[in-house]
Amino acid sequence: MKIVKVYLVLFLLAVTGAVAQTSKDPKMDRFVTDLMKKMTLQEKLGQLNLPGAGDITTGQASSSDIAQKIKDGKVGGLFNIKGVEKIRAVQKVAVENSRLKIPLLFGMDVIHGYQTVFPIPLGLSSSWDMDLIRQSARIAAIEASADGINWTFSPMVDISRDPRWGRVSEGSGEDPYLGSQIAKAMVTGYQGDDLSKNNTIMACVKHFALYGAAEAGRDYNTTDMSRLRMYNEFFSPYKAAIDAGVASVMTSFNEVEGVPASANKWLMTDVLRKQWGFGGFVVTDYTAINEMTDHGLGDLQTVSALALKAGVEMDMVGEGFLTTLEKSLKEGKVTQQQIEIACKKILEAKYKLGLFEDPYRYTDVQRSKTEIFTDANRKIARQTAAQSFVLLKNNNVLPIKRGGTIALIGPLADAKENMTGTWSVAADNDKSIALLAGLKTVAGSQTKVLYAKGSNLTADTLLEERGTMFGKSLKRDRRPADVILKEALDVAGKSDVIVAALGESAEMTGESSSRTDIEIPELQKQLLQALLKTGKPVVLVLFTGRPLALKWEDENVPAILNVWFGGSEAGHAVADVLFGDVNPSGKLSATFPQNVGQVPIFYNHKNTGRPLPEGKWFQKFRSNYLDVSNDPLYPFGYGLSYTTFKYGDIKLSNTSLKTGESLTASITVTNSGSRDGKEVVQLYLRDLVGSVTRPVKELKGFQKISLKAGESKTVSFKITDEDLKFYNADLKFTAEPGDFKLFIGTNSRDVKEASFKFAN
Ligand code: BGC
Repeated sequence: MKIVKVYLVLFLLAVTGAVAQTSKDPKMDRFVTDLMKKMTLQEKLGQLNLPGAGDITTGQASSSDIAQKIKDGKVGGLFNIKGVEKIRAVQKVAVENSRLKIPLLFGMDVIHGYQTVFPIPLGLSSSWDMDLIRQSARIAAIEASADGINWTFSPMVDISRDPRWGRVSEGSGEDPYLGSQIAKAMVTGYQGDDLSKNNTIMACVKHFALYGAAEAGRDYNTTDMSRLRMYNEFFSPYKAAIDAGVASVMTSFNEVEGVPASANKWLMTDVLRKQWGFGGFVVTDYTAINEMTDHGLGDLQTVSALALKAGVEMDMVGEGFLTTLEKSLKEGKVTQQQIEIACKKILEAKYKLGLFEDPYRYTDVQRSKTEIFTDANRKIARQTAAQSFVLLKNNNVLPIKRGGTIALIGPLADAKENMTGTWSVAADNDKSIALLAGLKTVAGSQTKVLYAKGSNLTADTLLEERGTMFGKSLKRDRRPADVILKEALDVAGKSDVIVAALGESAEMTGESSSRTDIEIPELQKQLLQALLKTGKPVVLVLFTGRPLALKWEDENVPAILNVWFGGSEAGHAVADVLFGDVNPSGKLSATFPQNVGQVPIFYNHKNTGRPLPEGKWFQKFRSNYLDVSNDPLYPFGYGLSYTTFKYGDIKLSNTSLKTGESLTASITVTNSGSRDGKEVVQLYLRDLVGSVTRPVKELKGFQKISLKAGESKTVSFKITDEDLKFYNADLKFTAEPGDFKLFIGTNSRDVKEASFKFAN
């Protein structure tokens, strides 16, 4: 009888989805349950409320509007308040002046470093170096927690295949496998092995889900795709973050299957909780609940109830939970239990952070003086930045020899405010290293560096304004364009080599920064053309937060080094690579198209029923374009080095694989050039016959290796049936028997090939 009862309870819990709501920590459960017994309904709703910090200034912590709310128990956390003393003072209000003394969460968008800024995430992902990426998140957590922050809204893991979308800069590119490895590295970097330590912070994986699939690359736009595609091509990085123990999840602004993410019960409860076993809490994106009124789902009361019922626990900024849920409860539109569960999750997060034990754990003023923007952190930022750069082309111009005269020209050359890129809210841009400063330092006294701006960012003043918001000014030069250009040509005339620092400004990507034209702005192109006409060797140092269309540049400029936005130490790091002190080894995590018309373009596409025969770029009645080949300009995984690497042939330990067994694919890679270098050896698979169509190639492994000049290493990959699994039409994750192709190479296009069979 007893057993039947237990099963019945388990069954009911499973059906209601409550299984995922029970924690594994009885001490915490007791603590939170006892606390909740003392709480009024309004206090419980207060825990679900996450206002922005607004304009609290130091000394005003207890007198601002927010302070009154905190005293009344109407706030669960605050975000984007900066400065340890201010945060400590606000925490004091919560723990001394509110009835139940519940401490607050302090969140911030610590996206790619805190004050020591690392490359933008798209750049970081191009390093393909998981240790460095983990370390960058670790340092970000140490600095942020030393300044009062205990929660970051990162990692952003939205897969995107559309460089028109401005937020492509904030993610890890187009690939679910690489994206998943990075998601895991970031979460472990932020959270460490124990959230209650004073230098680890809660991570928040975002934006769940599919935010990167906005139609036409227009931010906040609709997304719509099959579940098959969601599971196989977009979901894995979110799931990887959950598997790595991420403490919180942020909803996305967009709709999924006609329901905005913040009201999407299938996403927030069925997928996240029931299928993936997520045990933390869900916060909305900024006013995402309120925005569901504009989506067309009803008034604030209605959409707030929908969000709670879907499985959202915290309401960012909009206060819909705070102001309408009591009414909805009275009217039977939400249940007491739904509110209890949400409140419990928030209190659990605070418990795990150790805030109930010591609410000032993250507000040690001493730490803030010694652990932020340290020389050691800046050194790692410089190394990391250099690893993120991608050498796109090099006709023997790079590296530049010391001695002689360099003309550094371009609107991004002396632009320290722009080096940290988008979402660098804690940066002190005064301390960032511009390319001009970095080049002068690294060049040494034997090399002369001359500088001229050459052109503004763009002829369009309004576009420049929009692209240089948030203190990222490029100090527009008001002189006529021909005067600015002439000055640059004079400088170029005195040089042995020209370094053209061109591209986008920091805020030309990021939130609400989508573009339909993804080329270098025309005015800068004209400058580049004029510089090329001098006949001197030209290196294009490209600043960008998205894959750009660079067909003309690729055809005409002898060397192109893509440096993204490298962070606080960008200028030094770019100079390190230009002079060859560091050999570039970054590889693209997103395909660069030939032109915007090819977008979305990505390497792991399907074959279609009418693929173009190999070697052709057009054939009538095949899947192609009349005016441009299907090839990307630079494929996924692409990036050159100052040395060259030769790949041997693939050796397979076996040509057949069974469930539970493994096979090893090995290849010998030789550094065939005259410089030491690093190479990212990439493994791809293709499932030739499936119950549903499968991509032409999928990344399944990679290793970043160092090779001395002339050295060879054998790289081995172990393959098991786990690597062959995908979601079938019933959304079952399974490996199907049949023939597979295996590719290993230096990028997704240039690969060696082998075959094997899988039989289960
Ligand atoms: C962004 C989020 C961010 C939040 C808080 C939103 O506009 O979409 O990525 O975490 O603001 O600043």
